[in-house]
Amino acid sequence: MSTIHIENESEETTESIAQVLARRLVGGDLLILSGDLGAGKTFFTRALLYELGLEREQRVPSPTFTLIHEYEVRLHVLHADLYRLSDSDEVRHLGMRERREQGALLVVEWGRPYAAELGADAVYLDFQLAPRKLVMSADGPRSTQLLSSHGQDWVKMGATYDG
Ligand SMILES: Nc1ncnc2c1ncn2[C@@H]1O[C@H](COP(=O)(O)OP(=O)(O)O)[C@@H](O)[C@H]1O
Ligand SMILES: [Mg+2]
Repeated sequence: MSTIHIENESEETTESIAQVLARRLVGGDLLILSGDLGAGKTFFTRALLYELGLEREQRVPSPTFTLIHEYEVRLHVLHADLYRLSDSDEVRHLGMRERREQGALLVVEWGRPYAAELGADAVYLDFQLAPRKLVMSADGPRSTQLLSSHGQDWVKMGATYDG
């Protein structure tokens, strides 16, 4: 499927994108977040969790050192950061794929090399800096459906399509 490009120079735009996705996410979905340090992966996840019902006073720390944080909101959410891992066995041992099969939503920073271990069929959110831009794509039936069902919302945000 094509890639969707949205300029997200403002934090509010990143929050709007999280809002649109949050409405349609179901248990078992997989979001893989990539982009350089400071590009907004954790900021996006925080916005998504608040949309899914997390209380505003709850903190959403980066899981860089702890690997996985869990949240019980509208969905059971696992927020992971795999930056510090270096091979697929380590990822497999975290058991995230099994948790996903049991209905958890996975939001995984630096997860792109481990898509297979996470069970594939992912929505990819690639956060680019200078200028800030979000490039979204999907690689399986569920994730393709999830992104394309938002067509009108993305267009309203000024999205352009590639391919
Ligand atoms: N448009 C934007 N979208 C997301 N974050 C933004 C934006 N503009 C500024 N920021 C800031 O950039 C930083 C992104 O940091 P973070 O989400 O931790 O990055 P990452 O997890 O990708 O390393 C935050 O301090 C956030 O406030
Ligand atoms: Mg981060």
